[in-house]
Amino acid sequence: MKRNEFLQLFGFGATLLVSGCLGSCGSKTDNPQPGPGPTPTPGTVDFTIDVTAPANARLNDPAFGYVYGADNGVIVAKTATGSYVALAAACTHQGTTVSFQPAVNNFFCPNHGSRFSTSGTALNGPASTPLKVYTLVQTGNMLRITG
Ligand code: FES
Repeated sequence: MKRNEFLQLFGFGATLLVSGCLGSCGSKTDNPQPGPGPTPTPGTVDFTIDVTAPANARLNDPAFGYVYGADNGVIVAKTATGSYVALAAACTHQGTTVSFQPAVNNFFCPNHGSRFSTSGTALNGPASTPLKVYTLVQTGNMLRITG
């Protein structure tokens, strides 16, 4: 390869790197796409989940470990210890609906990568406010979530 050919190739590659970064590196944080993230009115959450119902099979599926309730405003998850927790599903950063990741036993926001513990604590930002934890009472196969 001749020097001129190399420089032309390298120069083109560098242009792609710079323009690619300018085009997308900043946009992830500068132009977020928050999801709907419904937030239930405090005191209005009161629903039950039958953990054995086919509709809730994902709750006990090790690959998922969660379902949503209260019009997707609450996420109910099965933790690494086998207990269940119910938290607000809307990320406290900009409201994107979080999911649960059983492999690491925490909640994840796909918008900017915030993570929350099973007790709602913000483990890493940009979110710094904890997720609201709802009261969950288990009676046999039934979970009652209130708050
Ligand atoms: S909306 Fe930004 S981290 Fe969740």
